[in-house]
Amino acid sequence: MADGDTELEARLVEQEEFEPSEEFVAQANVSDPAVYDEFEENWPECWEGAAEMLDWDEEYDEVLDDSNPPFYKWFTGGKLNVSYNCVDRHVENGDKNRVAIKWEGEHGETRTYTYQDLYREVNEFAAALRDLGVEEDDVVTLYMPMIPELPIAMLACARIGAPHSVVFGGFSADALATRMNSADSRFLVTCDGYYRRGDPLDHLDKANEGLDGVDHGVDATVVVDRLGDDGFGHDLKGNQHDWDDLLDEHAGERIDPVERDAEDMLFLMYTSGTTGQPKGVKHTTGGYLAYAAWTSHAVLDIEKEDTYWCSADIGWITGHSYIVYGPLALGTTTVMYEGTPDFPDRDRLWDIIEKYAVDIFYTAPTAIRAFMKWGSRFPEQHDLSSLRLLGTVGEPINPRAWKWYYKHIGNEDCPVVDTWWQTETGGMMITTLPGIKKMKPGSAGPPLPGIDARIVDTKGKRVDAGRAGYLTVNKPWPGMLRTLYKNDERFIQEYWQEYSDTDSDDPDDWVYFPEDGAKIDGDDYITILGRVDDVINVSGHRLGTMEIESAIVGVEGVAEAAVVGGNHEVKGEAVYAYVITEEGQDEDDEMRKRIIEGVEDAIGPIARPEMVVFTPELPKTRSGKIMRRLLEEIANGEELGDTTTLRNPEIVESIQRQVESE
Ligand code: WTA
Repeated sequence: MADGDTELEARLVEQEEFEPSEEFVAQANVSDPAVYDEFEENWPECWEGAAEMLDWDEEYDEVLDDSNPPFYKWFTGGKLNVSYNCVDRHVENGDKNRVAIKWEGEHGETRTYTYQDLYREVNEFAAALRDLGVEEDDVVTLYMPMIPELPIAMLACARIGAPHSVVFGGFSADALATRMNSADSRFLVTCDGYYRRGDPLDHLDKANEGLDGVDHGVDATVVVDRLGDDGFGHDLKGNQHDWDDLLDEHAGERIDPVERDAEDMLFLMYTSGTTGQPKGVKHTTGGYLAYAAWTSHAVLDIEKEDTYWCSADIGWITGHSYIVYGPLALGTTTVMYEGTPDFPDRDRLWDIIEKYAVDIFYTAPTAIRAFMKWGSRFPEQHDLSSLRLLGTVGEPINPRAWKWYYKHIGNEDCPVVDTWWQTETGGMMITTLPGIKKMKPGSAGPPLPGIDARIVDTKGKRVDAGRAGYLTVNKPWPGMLRTLYKNDERFIQEYWQEYSDTDSDDPDDWVYFPEDGAKIDGDDYITILGRVDDVINVSGHRLGTMEIESAIVGVEGVAEAAVVGGNHEVKGEAVYAYVITEEGQDEDDEMRKRIIEGVEDAIGPIARPEMVVFTPELPKTRSGKIMRRLLEEIANGEELGDTTTLRNPEIVESIQRQVESE
């Protein structure tokens, strides 16, 4: 356990409560409080309702096969296709002219895809992928920003049964290569570039550099021409194909959706863990889609008539589940925006909400904190009265930011759902059902129906109300990850070992550990306190300290490095790097710059250290373990805890003095 037996501090003292309006409750998709008991009494069959939201080619035999924990199987024997469920069935059911994707580029250009348009392009691109040699179960890597071709490529992959691995567009060339190597992926879809704060950004250059690092070679690359005349003039190489040319070549072609087993892999999503190597989280077809659809319906309250907007990036799990799969499975209109929230001005998001009359808006606390800092005059310039529901995800939201969001965006009229979940959980796990439950700012809420989440002590015993402990999930759920790609052992080690009897075949002995600390109230509301492992949450993005440290140690002249998360007003946490240089190396701004560049090259700008502190030594225990807790306290300007167990207590003050002088 990361923090031994030390008790986690409960951060929030004050708790106010808010009720959803009668008007909201009257129209909510789920408004009968009996749903909680029904799910509990009827578990795991309670999940049949979620499966029934989908169209199956073959009915499943069993809801849950728990004979070999923690390798659970959901809806076994069932067959279905995700692309059929997200596209074809809406076309067939009379919704072909409904808008599926409403896209807006940073410069204001728009593209609208009806379900019929989506059907056409998904089929054509599926035909193109087949023609390029992509076979069922081949992993296709998608390294793309927020352009419509990304969800189209995802759905085309799903159509032919080729799992996708989306790599966030802001990640570096190295990060791309690592992920392609790990997934044995021989196909890449990318683009020439995209716009950020008004300027074109070269993406193909980064993609090509990444491709050079792919050990096994690449069969084919597809490049979307996003920039047109603003492009950087790279010629496509021999095995690189232009997206538009491929669609022209395959114009009008139709590809039968491949029947996939419920447990077949739908996609891989890499995420940071406690080691330097990112983890390939494996999600499957039936359980994942059923869970994404059900939570979109029950928590986000999405109806097909809605215009729904999640402002996350599809490169993260939030975009997979709640821009693409959940909303499209429900046949709604999902909005995509390419750029930043402050271009051309700080009212861009509110402008989009007004223009498209967005009904439901889902974003991250880090964004809300930035909006709050910019001030309420920006949302006040716009009519936001179309909004019915607001949501947040990715990190704890402090009550002040929650209340600002509730008041200035929701006009005290829209419930706010604070949704706790992870890449690994596939969908939301802890949050209020907006038509049933009161809201408590800062507290995510109770576990969703059917989810057995608990707050326990280090021995796995439930803590008393009002106390803090560790979050566990004690029963499986349909959206859960099935394993880490080609690494069952690490899967058990990372998520189950802590609280499970790993020799047992009894599912009751298996407990999932998300590595978050949390506090529980008397009414079962859970307040998430943050990660208890070496993962930093910067602007809602998970970064492993080990990954950043190994990037820094890779910089010439660096001997050792330790990275911690320090508090940050907008980002939530920021990266603080403590660096020991090699003998004779100048510790100057030039060196700092090289370290920052080293991190950007290895991971991406999101991991850029906020501060680089040079030190001759790191505080270490007598057994040689770096005391990160002290480094965090220094970063936060807090009073230092116990230093007596250190081998080198004097170093702490010297580091502290240096940080204070920065
Ligand atoms: C954190 C994002 C507090 C948590 C969907 C979790 C949250 C990690 C919340 C997963 C929330 C996510 N309140 N903390 N509502 N939602 N987290 O995999 O620490 O990128 O373990 O998935 O984000 O991050 P991931």
